[in-house]
Formats: sequence, C-alpha cells, structure tokens
Amino acid sequence: MPRVQGCITPAVRLPPIFLHISLPATLGPGHKAQDDTEFYDMSHIAYVNGRYLPHNSATVHIEDRGYQFADGVYEVALIWNGIPVDYSGHMVRLWRSMDELRMKAPMSPAAMTVVVQEVVRRNLFKTGIVYIQVNRGVAPRAHPFPSGDVKASMVVTAKAFAGSSDAMAEQGAKVVTARDIRWERRDIKSVGLLANALARQGAAEQKAYEALLVKDDGTVTEASASNAWIITADKAIVTHPTTNAILGGITRQTVMKLAKDAGYKVDERPFTLAEAKSAKEVFLTGTTTFVMPISQIDDQPVANGAAGLISLDLRKRYRNYMESLDAATAWNV
Ligand code: PDD
Repeated sequence: MPRVQGCITPAVRLPPIFLHISLPATLGPGHKAQDDTEFYDMSHIAYVNGRYLPHNSATVHIEDRGYQFADGVYEVALIWNGIPVDYSGHMVRLWRSMDELRMKAPMSPAAMTVVVQEVVRRNLFKTGIVYIQVNRGVAPRAHPFPSGDVKASMVVTAKAFAGSSDAMAEQGAKVVTARDIRWERRDIKSVGLLANALARQGAAEQKAYEALLVKDDGTVTEASASNAWIITADKAIVTHPTTNAILGGITRQTVMKLAKDAGYKVDERPFTLAEAKSAKEVFLTGTTTFVMPISQIDDQPVANGAAGLISLDLRKRYRNYMESLDAATAWNV
C-alpha cells in the first residue's frame, strides 16, 4: 500500500522565536470569498494522524474512506479572541455523528481538545475557525466497513477569520433557492457535502450569500451551510425542528436560547418558501454566519428589503454572548 505522506514527513517543531516574529506579507488578509466572508489564506500548521505538519505537506492516504466514500464527519468551531464558542456543543455533536455512523473515535474528547488547542496555538491567531475531521480510516476500497482494528483518521486545521460581515448584516444579505437534493440523514455532520456545495455554487453564481434548500413539498429545511429562520407577522420566530431533515446547528441552539431569554416567542416547526417570501424577517445562523439578516430571496425583497430589526437584535445578543464567554471554562468538554 502507498505510504501516508504524513507518516514519513518529520513533524515540524516551531522554534520559540517563531512566536515572536511579525507575520510575513503572505499571511496578510487573503482573497475575499464569494460570500463576502473574509478568510485568511494560510493555515500554517495542521494536525494529521498524530503529527503537526506544515499545511502544504499535511496529506492523507489515498485509501482513506473519507476520500472514497465520504465516510467521515467534521466540525467547524469559532475561536473568538482566543476563546472557543460553544466548544462543548461541537464536541457533543461530533461524538453523536460518529456514533450514528458506528465510527470509533480516534481519541477521547479530552485528548482531542489538547490537539485542537495546540493547532490553534500554532496558527498564531486570535480569531479564527478550527476544522476537525474524523474519517473511518484507511482500508482497501470496499463498501462494507473494514473489519479488524482500523483506526479512525483525524485532521485538524485552523485559520484566521475576520468574522461574519457586520456591513453585510446591516444591509441584509441576498439568498437564492435550490432544491434540497441531499440524503435523509442531514442531522449527521458528514463530509458528504456535494449537494450543499452545488447549492452554494449556484448562490455564488447569482452573487448571493447563501442558498435556501427547499424540499419538493415547499418546505425550507435550512441553507447550504447555515440554519434558516423566519419571523412571522405576529413576531413568532420560526425554524425547522431538529429532525433528520436538518443539521442541528450549534449556533441555532444558542440563538434559540438567547431569543427565549429575551422574551421572544420561538416556534420550532417547518415553514414553506411561500411563508419565507412573505415573512416579516428572515435570517440565518451558523458558526461562520453568526446571525445574518436576509433582505432578498431570489429576486424578491423580504418585507421592505432592509435587514430586519429583530434579526439585528439577535445578532447583537449573539455577539454579546460570544464576548461574554469565559476562557477558564470555554474549552471544557
Ligand atoms: N456549516 N446547516 C448546515 C448544512 C451546515 O453545514 C451548518 C454549519 C449549519 C450551522 O451549524 P452550526 O451553527 O453548528 O455551525 C447548518 C459549517 C459552518 C460548515 O460546513 O462550514
């Protein structure tokens, strides 16, 4: 079998001086992504199956089942001013995804947290995102799970992220619609994201921030990488219940609590595209989205075409929540 490059390349140890030098120009702000979410290009150091490696030599095996069958699960968590946001929620969901796919975790949550903290530390940013992927492992290609003691493979990367755009939020963002053609276990955060990517590409081609995913019966499930919400004329905040039809967003969960604490009425029920188009407000939530007011669906403005006031209030509450997290407990799992 071919060797795993990550296993023959020696791990890189950063000399302590590296932590004190100023960043070279190549580490400056990267390209503007099509959704106006500004990421920075470089992820200097990645964790791959036991080693911390420079990003460009961090590789995985060609017979990793994640590559052949999308037999892997992942998480994306926000690090805000050095503090992770809802980290334990992401870990709980990662373990749930693994359990649902009968995948054995490569290490304990506490050990994984040490790795995640180390990747964040080595990537020298205060605010960014950390990506964790666990695949079932490496085995000759065959559909059934490999027998024997195949160890799950694990990759962690991290990169700076400027945060969801406030300028866009104040205007309200445009979304388009796409048919929800995904499989029926969207509650599992699987790396099988081709349908999501197709929908998001459609959005990018129409200069839209996101794509609302719509079932054939007209129900809006969620968006390609965020959860969808509407606010009705009587100010009820409505979002799809956490069934197999959507990913149970960690941001969704927090925003729902913040909304309830603020006295808003929250209704977990499916809603249709027609309802969304005639709603008082529409917004999205997600790790990289925070709370994003939506002002246009396809070619139609939402209400008067401005960002909704309740959506903006929830965005402010979510920001305050992010700011309020305590470094001493935020990494607890
Ligand atoms: N996506 N729905 C889908 C399909 C998602 O992919 C995501 C997150 C969400 C929001 O979940 P959360 O609030 O836990 O981020 C909802 C991540 C950010 C991604 O794939 O990059």
